[in-house]
Amino acid sequence: MPESLLIAQISDAHVGTGPDFLGGRMDTRAALQRAVAHVAALDPAPDAVLFTGDLTERGTAAEYAQVAEALHALPMPVYAVPGNHDDPKLARAALPRCMPVAADAPDGACCYHQALGRLRLVALDSVVPRRSHGALLPSQLDWLATTLNALAGDPVLLFMHHPPLPTGLAAMDACSLLEGGDRLADLVRRHGRVQGLLCGHLHRPVQMLFAGVPLHVAPSVAHQIDLDLRPEAPLRVRLEPPKISLHRWRADIGLCTHLDYVGAFGEALAL
Ligand SMILES: [Fe+2]
Repeated sequence: MPESLLIAQISDAHVGTGPDFLGGRMDTRAALQRAVAHVAALDPAPDAVLFTGDLTERGTAAEYAQVAEALHALPMPVYAVPGNHDDPKLARAALPRCMPVAADAPDGACCYHQALGRLRLVALDSVVPRRSHGALLPSQLDWLATTLNALAGDPVLLFMHHPPLPTGLAAMDACSLLEGGDRLADLVRRHGRVQGLLCGHLHRPVQMLFAGVPLHVAPSVAHQIDLDLRPEAPLRVRLEPPKISLHRWRADIGLCTHLDYVGAFGEALAL
């Protein structure tokens, strides 16, 4: 039987919104705790958890302490990338094992790679300081080119916060990855064994192809963005059931992605 790996993806927790967020109807700290408890109870257990950014709302040390406390319940490796609501330095200080930044990472970017079985996880840092949109700077794309060269022939799974393609969610498209996407696509094509690209940021589950490989955007473990595809749609939140993404990977199949509801929607009933 070929090796199979199970990877849970959680995203956009925004811990630190406070008790009055959305009229008191969304406690993001409790939402992350519920998602973590859900992942910890999965059988089979995931081999790793990827956290695709916006760990916190304001990027304060106190918020990261709450995230670290919540993630402590997970026995498997957790790897994270920062989102536009994060402070990458404070995040790394609070969660050093979740962000094992490569010694050769350029300009302090939170990029690194880790082995998970035969798969190579490669983290990219799409954060532009104090801006909501994302970018991959030439220095980081140079690092990625060198890294992918070193991983030639290995299956690679990329993850970062900002999706590199528009999705029709106009307000979010305006603040997705606005620089570096073309060269990223070129590097993905040239490597030839990239298994997929996992992102967050949209607070909605979205599947696309990017440079011929699966691009999966995970929903939020807290509040979702309203699904409104009108070009003039305002940015609104919808309190849909929180979800995580579960990726099963086999070398002979590639990625198979499931969405898994957190909480009461996760109850299984015998038929
Ligand atoms: Fe977010």
